[in-house]
Amino acid sequence: MTQRVAVVTGAQGGLGESMCKAMCDQDRRVVGSFLPGAEAEAQSWQADMKAAGYDVAIYPLDVTDYDHCSSFIAKVEEEVGPIEILVNNAGITRDGPLKRLKPEQWQAVLRTNLDSMYNMCQPLFDAMCGRGFGRIVNISSLNGEKGQFGQANYSAAKAGIYGFTKAIAQEGARKGVTVNAVSPGYIDTPMVRQVPENVLNAIVDGIPVGRLGQPEEIARAVAFLTAEDAGFITGTNLSVNGGQYMS
Ligand code: CAA
Repeated sequence: MTQRVAVVTGAQGGLGESMCKAMCDQDRRVVGSFLPGAEAEAQSWQADMKAAGYDVAIYPLDVTDYDHCSSFIAKVEEEVGPIEILVNNAGITRDGPLKRLKPEQWQAVLRTNLDSMYNMCQPLFDAMCGRGFGRIVNISSLNGEKGQFGQANYSAAKAGIYGFTKAIAQEGARKGVTVNAVSPGYIDTPMVRQVPENVLNAIVDGIPVGRLGQPEEIARAVAFLTAEDAGFITGTNLSVNGGQYMS
C-alpha cells in the first residue's frame, strides 16, 4: 500500500512535533504546517527532524483563513498526494479573566482554535468521503470539557470542537471517514509553561497521576485514532489528562 498522507497543523509546537514523529513511525507521509513568515525556523526544524530520522514535508498555513486553507490543501494534494489523515492541532491561548478579556483575545482564540476546524475540514471533507477513507482528529482540551478560570475564550473554542466533531462524524460515517477529538490535559509544552509557576504548581497538585503529561502521551492517542483498524471509532472524545477530569 502506498503511504497515506497525514497533515498535522501547528507541527512545530510542543504537541505537533510528537504527532509528526508518531505518524512517521506509522509509515505515513507526513506534512507539517508552519506559520507564514516563519520559513527559516521551519526549515531548521525540518532539518533537525530529518537528522533524527523523521522525514516531514513542510508548508506555510494560516488556519484562520479559509482561502489559505483551501489553497494549502490543493497544493499538498497536488505535490504530495491525497490527504487521508488530518490532525487539527494548531491552537493558541490568550488567557485572562473575563473582566479583562479584550475582544481581540476572544477573536484570536476563536478564530485559531475553532474556525480553523471548519477552514481545514470543509475544503477536504467531500474529497475524503469520495475516496472512501479518512481519519480526522481535532485537538480539543481538558479545559473545553471542564472550563478553566481565565480561559473563557479557550474553553469556549475547545468545547465548540466537540459539537463540530460529532456533527461531521455523522456525515462521514458511511464513507469511511472517522472524526474524533483528543482532549489533552496539562502537558509539558511551551504553552503550559507560560502559566505562572504558582498557578501551575496548584494545577499539578490536582492531577491524580501527579505530574504533567508528556507530548508523546498525546501523540499516542492520535496514532491510535488514525490507525487503519480504528474505523469503528468515530464521533468520540479521548481525554488524556492524568485523571484530572473524569467525565
Ligand atoms: N479558581 C478560582 N479563583 C482563582 C483561580 C481559580 N482557578 N485562579 C485564580 N483565582 C483567583 C486568585 O486567587 C485571585 O484572587 P484574589 O483577587 O481574591 O486574590 C484572582 O483570581 C486573580 O485574579 P487576577 O485578576 O489578579 O488574575 P491574574 O491576572 O493575576 O491572572 C490568569 C489570571 C492569567 C487567568 C492566571 O490565573 C492564569 O494564568 N491562570 C491559568 C490559566 C490556565 O490554566 N491556562 C492554561 C494554559 S495551558 C492550556 O490551555 C493547554 C490546555 O489545553 C490544558
